[in-house]
Amino acid sequence: MSTPLVHDTEPVPGRPFGLPLLAAIRRDPLGVGHALQHRLGDVAAVEVLFRRIVYFFRAEAVRQILVDHGECFEREARLLDIFASFQGRNVLTTEGPDWERQRRLLTPAFSPKRMAGYMGLMRDAIEASLADELPVEVGQGAVVDADFLTTRITMDVILRTLFSHATSHEEAMRVSVAIRALTRQSMREVFWAWVPPAWLPHPGRAAKQASLRVLHGLIERHIAARSARTATEAGDGDVLDRLLAARDDASAGDGAGLSAQEVHDNCVLLFAAGFDTASSALTWWLGLMATHPEVAQRVRSEVAAARAGGAGLDTLARLPFLNATIKEAMRLYSPSTALFNRVALRDVVIDGTTVRKGTLVVVPVWHLHRDARSFPEPERFLPERFLPDAPPIPRGAFLPFGAGPHFCLGQHFAMVEMALVAAHVIERFDLTLAEGDALPEPVVDLALKPKQPLRLRFTRRALSAPNAPLRTSPCA
Ligand code: HEM
Repeated sequence: MSTPLVHDTEPVPGRPFGLPLLAAIRRDPLGVGHALQHRLGDVAAVEVLFRRIVYFFRAEAVRQILVDHGECFEREARLLDIFASFQGRNVLTTEGPDWERQRRLLTPAFSPKRMAGYMGLMRDAIEASLADELPVEVGQGAVVDADFLTTRITMDVILRTLFSHATSHEEAMRVSVAIRALTRQSMREVFWAWVPPAWLPHPGRAAKQASLRVLHGLIERHIAARSARTATEAGDGDVLDRLLAARDDASAGDGAGLSAQEVHDNCVLLFAAGFDTASSALTWWLGLMATHPEVAQRVRSEVAAARAGGAGLDTLARLPFLNATIKEAMRLYSPSTALFNRVALRDVVIDGTTVRKGTLVVVPVWHLHRDARSFPEPERFLPERFLPDAPPIPRGAFLPFGAGPHFCLGQHFAMVEMALVAAHVIERFDLTLAEGDALPEPVVDLALKPKQPLRLRFTRRALSAPNAPLRTSPCA
């Protein structure tokens, strides 16, 4: 039995049409979320341009939307179209059978088992980036913009794991600027009344096309080089090799692989989804380490003990306290502050509230992560919450990677990458905020970024464990 939508008649800020509300969401999405929850409660219904939008602030409700009743919702088609205009038709921008097939084909390349094959490429990227950007002599220090550093590292990681390509400082910056320009343009288009076709002149079109040329040019060059390889040169090492070799052998499949266009479009996606999110998470992690030296020291001791015991990369990637600090950093500063809006495909009851077919549903990750009902003392950085013996986190309360059928395909990849970066940095550097600085306010720039540059002083330490090259497994 269904109950009526509880906030059906609630007056909403900014009527008529809700345009002022739309402008406020654009300016300050996190502040609007707080205001709506404060004013309307855990189920906050508003109306914008005759469209009903409901924010669900209770973790249990969110779990029902994403998992228990996941089949009753789709991601908003308009958002997918905006992203498709620069990414093409890939596992992010499709829904239905097309999405299911692409997801099946891509999943093996990102399974936990596959990670071992990428760890060596990640280590090379991390070591090269750190050597380029940070001091190498023990005792030497430098003040560096944390976001600049993490961008350089994650761009190097994605280029090496996707294409086995070692990038330069200049290329990493050129490609990351192009991707950020494209994601910013997408965010701009989200707030337009309609999405103009590519051929029609519109604000930002020329810059979008220039950025697309940079990104597509890079991807096309690598795919062409791989296709020109002879059969004896065939590899099995990087993500592109896995995408080219993928075959749909599941019972639902037909044994075919991804088309050339799908390989291209999914490479664009892996860039777009994979580097800025991890860069954002690592930036905040570095800031939290600089402002919580006792936690940083505990992580450092855990890494040093593991290294002294001969740990390889796979062991470092699984260290419990190190991983707990990364999860807690993502709780406080989730790179995705909300998931893609969902649309109800039919009437469905969520946590006692009827959501009518066609309603837009917002999953406010930022607010769920700072809810004292799920996380006591929510504003404090307490990594112990994520240790294996801590009380369980409530269902639907912690969603840095989403949940349900669309949960992040790159979750294992990102966790391994971030753990290896964190272990490398903490072992080799003391971190402090630049003199006179404080941890900046966050701002939503698709991923969550510092509003002002987060400037950190990196001072090179002597390694406590012998500086043996890190192996990909203890037996390698
Ligand atoms: C810290 C790093 C990352 C974060 C916080 C993150 C976050 C997310 C979130 C929240 C979603 C779900 C969106 C929704 O349901 O509306 C998602 C989806 C996705 N992510 Fe990530 N991501 C990260 C890294 C990566 C990496 C490294 C890759 C690949 C190399 C990746 C590939 C994807 C893909 C392909 C999807 C779409 C899955 C689908 O719809 O089936 N992500 N990510």
